Amino acid sequence: MTEEALQLLLHRDATVVEHALQKFYEEQEPIGQLLAAEQYSLFAGGKRIRPVLVMEFCKLFGGREEAAIPFACAVEMLHTCSLIHDDLPCMDDDDLRRGKPTNHKVFGEAVAVLAGDSLLAGAFEMTATNTEVTPEIAAIATAYLANSVGRAGMVGGQIMDIEGEHRRLSLDELIKLHSLKTGAFICASCVLGALAAGVSLQDPAMQKVVTYAENIGLAFQIVDDLLDAIGDEATLGKRVGVDTAHEKNTFLCFYSVEEAKRYADRLTEEAICAISDYPDSEALIALASWLAGRNH
Ligand code: IPE
Ligand code: IPE
Ligand code: MG
Ligand code: MG
Ligand code: MG
Repeated sequence: MTEEALQLLLHRDATVVEHALQKFYEEQEPIGQLLAAEQYSLFAGGKRIRPVLVMEFCKLFGGREEAAIPFACAVEMLHTCSLIHDDLPCMDDDDLRRGKPTNHKVFGEAVAVLAGDSLLAGAFEMTATNTEVTPEIAAIATAYLANSVGRAGMVGGQIMDIEGEHRRLSLDELIKLHSLKTGAFICASCVLGALAAGVSLQDPAMQKVVTYAENIGLAFQIVDDLLDAIGDEATLGKRVGVDTAHEKNTFLCFYSVEEAKRYADRLTEEAICAISDYPDSEALIALASWLAGRNH
């Protein structure tokens, strides 16, 4: 698939999901500043990689788009929650996200915390009430997603990240940190897409999904670390150099820029290998390659 075709596809999937999110927000009762704060970060832009993974894995297994949309909306809501909280003064203390002032800079810390909480709760309401799949699949997806963002996933990774500041972790610990902080949730996005298409967790095909996902997930955070060091603030829409300023553990503590790139490329090849036998895998192959070489 050409770069142009991939970009068109990403744009198309993102637009479908954004319309669904907009519709959801039109139906919500405003209460205080909550809706405004949630929408501020949710519609600020962003690559929409996780919802695209949901949509494309559903498509890979011949599923219906309608079944994937609520799961895709949910992962973007959850992701946005994680970003709002990650930027708080008590966490990474960032003032720029998706090219705009961070949520707490505009709405204050209390509202930012609550906006994140509300996005988190809304996301699980969305997966649990997905009527385009069976109640059983909705329940399995909800539990899988919850596990991937909780202690055994993102939150677990975030605590390792925060507690690891000013302290050098081993490479194994860093790989665990990145796999939990970023990889587990990316993995859940892929798995939810396959679940929406009716693939069961026990199906051997799901192992291939997980292999692809775990590899692109770790590669994603390695590239994120790289971009913090060599990326451009305007292109990224977030500050650079903050990992060094906070004495974070990143791949650049162990590898040169070139070595880290090669590491991410190797993981990407592993990911591609896992799914390349599927007839309609070109989009996911192109996406994995693009993510490894991205500049934002
Ligand atoms: C940033 O995620 C946070 C990480 C997990 C590295 P993205 O790079 O997907 O951020 P957006 O959604 O495009 O803003
Ligand atoms: C955050 O990792 C991952 C999340 C769970 C949000 P980073 O702290 O490196 O993400 P950025 O660089 O601020 O986007
Ligand atoms: Mg962080
Ligand atoms: Mg951060
Ligand atoms: Mg980062």
